[in-house]
Amino acid sequence: MRKKIIAANWKMNKVPMEAKDFAAELAPLCATPDVDVVFCVPHVMLCPVRKSTTPNGIGLGVQNMHFDEFGAYTGEISTPMLEHFGVTHAIIGHSERRQYFNETDEAINKKTKKAIAAGLIPIVCVGESLAQREANITIEHLRIQTKLAMVGISATDAEKIVIAYEPIWAIGTGVVATTQQAEEACASIRTVLAEIFDEPTAQKIRIQYGGSVTPDNAADLFAQPNIDGALVGGASLKLDFAKIVNYKG
Ligand code: PGA
Repeated sequence: MRKKIIAANWKMNKVPMEAKDFAAELAPLCATPDVDVVFCVPHVMLCPVRKSTTPNGIGLGVQNMHFDEFGAYTGEISTPMLEHFGVTHAIIGHSERRQYFNETDEAINKKTKKAIAAGLIPIVCVGESLAQREANITIEHLRIQTKLAMVGISATDAEKIVIAYEPIWAIGTGVVATTQQAEEACASIRTVLAEIFDEPTAQKIRIQYGGSVTPDNAADLFAQPNIDGALVGGASLKLDFAKIVNYKG
């Protein structure tokens, strides 16, 4: 049985003081041994948020990190810099980073490997655009993105990775994928993982769905055999996020 992992992706929202107060209110509501919960916050909010995540058994994630340790990369943050902030997870290759910051599959692969080497759990994002879905190439696209993200990663390391399937057309739009669409895509990713590694490894890797997840649709999504949790944007900025975490009621 894969343990569900539900991650908040605050994106570029809130300011540190606000984040501190919000996390102090939200974290106790999300404290549960049944589900892995992670708050992925902007780097400058790691310190204030950590005060609430750690005591409540909640993971602390960044939304991006660099694949090198030091060097001439103006504006970037590397894993040694994150070492003393209690970071446990890193979102890698979110579609917004691929789209607005030209992140390539190669960079995403390097970041994934770096995160693992640094002891962080990577949450690797894949997902198709509306044009790709309409052209009926969703499965092919997910296959390519997944394969490129996993280049050079061993089966033992792969078990630690979380994949987030996020159809771009469902992100921040209020249009959630149907449970059938989400399950079909997540199942196809698992098939690719079995090809790259092996069936037992693929069965251990957790695959989240992301894209307009709310307390209203979470339980149906989580009931699907290949959906092991969610990456939540908009709804994670409100206390409603706790309802997603406590989807069993
Ligand atoms: P959303 O974002 O929940 O606002 O659709 C999800 C994400 O981008 O991770």
